Amino acid sequence: MTFSKTKKRTPKVMQLFLDSSDPKEILTAREWGVIDGVTTNPSLIARAGTAMEAALRAVLEASPGPVFCQVIGWKEVEPLKAQARWLSAFSNRIIVKIPMSVAGITAVRQLKQENPKIKLAVTAVSTVAQAFLVAKAGADVVALFNGPLDLEQDEPVQIVAPIRAIYDRSGFTTKILSAGRFPRSFGEYAADGTDIITIRMEFMKQLFEHSFTDKRMQGFLSDWQKAFGDKTWPAGAQPAANRKKR
Ligand code: E4P
Repeated sequence: MTFSKTKKRTPKVMQLFLDSSDPKEILTAREWGVIDGVTTNPSLIARAGTAMEAALRAVLEASPGPVFCQVIGWKEVEPLKAQARWLSAFSNRIIVKIPMSVAGITAVRQLKQENPKIKLAVTAVSTVAQAFLVAKAGADVVALFNGPLDLEQDEPVQIVAPIRAIYDRSGFTTKILSAGRFPRSFGEYAADGTDIITIRMEFMKQLFEHSFTDKRMQGFLSDWQKAFGDKTWPAGAQPAANRKKR
């Protein structure tokens, strides 16, 4: 009997984006070294408190990578296309978010035919069926509203796994973006095959925290302090003469 060799899998690192239009917040998350880019939406840009172009420029300056920016409206094709062209020309780091609607899907198809290099996402996607239409239209990213939906429904919203299966089987290269909320759903979205999770600062902070982590750190500190008081390990590099093989 012959066995086929195990197929070597190419590792895919999931990306983490911050959902924000606040440059200070973006720079803080960037300093932590955890974000790859930024998502915005009309509510966030409206909250920035400056002119829209200035707000977008500030986000671009603060972001370490791509920035998602949404066109306004969702019912007429031409205005969506015109704004998408403008946003795309504003910076080559912008991924234009087009709303999920008949006009939105039509606009994606036509924009991609006109310029295959334009980067497009379809946003406010809430079902597997919508995600299929998004990929069929040729969008680069499907922006799922699974996190926000999770807050509205009794059942957890588990749409990433079926979308992943359909995309992989169909050969669709559209990336799956999940809107994260709590650490539990963050883990599910990641394990089910999300390519990018975007998350607001208030929820991103929760990713770092757990009460058991804090409890153990308190335990370590109190055991140490009983033995050594406020001392810590000495700081800095060892002088060469002190370096010993142990
Ligand atoms: C994702 O790309 C969106 O900007 C966002 O997460 C979804 O919007 P909401 O969190 O305001 O519902």
